[in-house]
Amino acid sequence: MRIGIPRESRPGETLVAATAKTASQLAALGYDVVVEQGAGAAADQPDGAFADAGVRVVAGDEVWSSDVVVKVNAPTDDEIGRLRPGATVISLMAPARSPELVERLVAQGVTALAMDAVPRISRAQSMDVLSSMANVAGYRAVIEAAHEFGRLFTGQVTAAGKVPPARVFVVGAGVAGLAAIGAAGSLGAIVRAFDVRPEVAEQVESMGAQFVTVDMEQEVSTDGYAKEMTAEQEAATAAMYAEEARAADIVITTALIPGRPAPQLVNAETVAAMRPGSVVVDMAAANGGNVAATVRDQRVVTDNGVTVLGYTDLAGRLAAQTSQLYGTNIVNLLKLLTPGKDGVLTLDMDDVVQRGIAVTREGELMWPPPPVQVSAAPAAPVAETGPGVPAPVEKTPPDPRRRLYAAGLAAVAFLALATSAPVSFLPSLTVFVLAVVIGFYVIGNVHHALHTPLMSVTNAISGIIVVGAILQAPVDNLAVQLIAGVAILLASINVFGGFLVTRRMLNMFQKG
Ligand SMILES: NC(=O)c1ccc[n+]([C@@H]2O[C@H](COP(=O)([O-])OP(=O)(O)OC[C@H]3O[C@@H](n4cnc5c(N)ncnc54)[C@H](O)[C@@H]3O)[C@@H](O)[C@H]2O)c1
Repeated sequence: MRIGIPRESRPGETLVAATAKTASQLAALGYDVVVEQGAGAAADQPDGAFADAGVRVVAGDEVWSSDVVVKVNAPTDDEIGRLRPGATVISLMAPARSPELVERLVAQGVTALAMDAVPRISRAQSMDVLSSMANVAGYRAVIEAAHEFGRLFTGQVTAAGKVPPARVFVVGAGVAGLAAIGAAGSLGAIVRAFDVRPEVAEQVESMGAQFVTVDMEQEVSTDGYAKEMTAEQEAATAAMYAEEARAADIVITTALIPGRPAPQLVNAETVAAMRPGSVVVDMAAANGGNVAATVRDQRVVTDNGVTVLGYTDLAGRLAAQTSQLYGTNIVNLLKLLTPGKDGVLTLDMDDVVQRGIAVTREGELMWPPPPVQVSAAPAAPVAETGPGVPAPVEKTPPDPRRRLYAAGLAAVAFLALATSAPVSFLPSLTVFVLAVVIGFYVIGNVHHALHTPLMSVTNAISGIIVVGAILQAPVDNLAVQLIAGVAILLASINVFGGFLVTRRMLNMFQKG
């Protein structure tokens, strides 16, 4: 099959759906890949780069007559008209907000896959275009703010005086918010952040920022997305926004509830109370904005000297990087759609990711897909009752007396051994028993996530055991020889098993 990468027709668009690198990765999946002349010019991908990578650079007609057309923005009416029936088009589409586009795709008899509908589940992360773009955009939002802000981000003590660090307040700690927190923190600013989802506090703090709390009921989300705020929550947060914004030099807002207009969080009075020279970057400008003063795609300076940026092309301002990430997301999707690596695209509607992005299939309407359950917090167990449903088995906690009996039994065995064994054996026995008890409590309390480093330590101990057992093996006593043999066997299993597990883990990080 042929994959065509057209030049984006949207005015001012800098992005391209494939770079020379990702186009050759698509070719490695068995496809004949063609790129329209000049498609990557604004993303540092000249035609020559594609040609050097063995990708044909052709005129628009050959691209649009391909079996699969991959682009960034949703196809226009004209572009849909150039697709041949039965072809597949892959791009951002916002199908939930574009019913006319969906109708046109159905009428043209094509298969349309929306990259912005990839469900946010772990398996689909490598195809999550919105996250790739929001990540770049969050970083760029800080760069734009730093450009507008007339001072340093980092605090300094110089011969000419002390410079305080800039204070950055980030609203919404999703993908874009966390990227902004990381970028602002690395420039040396003091960063504070708020999100209605309390579960992100840990992520915010792990990035060195301070999570702002508000005295109100906050619910952990079960699907990774925020819910609309109640009137009480709105009242409680309004005062906090006013206080934080007034104290901040930079405010970056990213609050979003999917499928809804952006919640307006920073009102005109709050902006009016900010210091002159402060900067607001409203990343939600495309969805109506989180800030009252925002004008989409504009730089506005308020009467009190606050600069409000409503740019919606932040990711496109880092075109080479974003195109590379978008292209890689596309390659990952096509790997999923080309299981045979034979250049034949096959759709499996039983797969939640493929079903989730399918808007139309050969003219058949597939939108909206059934909801995908994504879980950020463990869902509460639902009690099922009724005929045929077995009654839940109640888990009884282990009887604490069992431990006591086991400890008593071990003590009796130790005493019996201690009284019958030769005196010279007693110190060794005591060390052995103490090692067992301490080892049990130390290793039993190590978190599961740390078992691998622990394994390295136990491998070293196993090595000592093997050496000790080899030294004991020649002793002229069958019991000692047997124990030494068993010790060598068990310790060797631990050593070699450890190496095998480590090798498997290292392979997971190797390419190809
Ligand atoms: N301007 C650009 O160029 C550009 C580029 C990419 C993304 N974006 C925009 O950035 C925004 C964030 O994208 P994302 O991928 O990080 O989304 P996301 O869903 O990962 O994050 C949004 C966050 O906002 C939080 N939130 C929702 N309502 C809130 C409220 N009332 N108060 C505080 N927090 C609230 C959510 O809990 C979530 O953590 C979106 O509006 C997106 O369209 C803009």
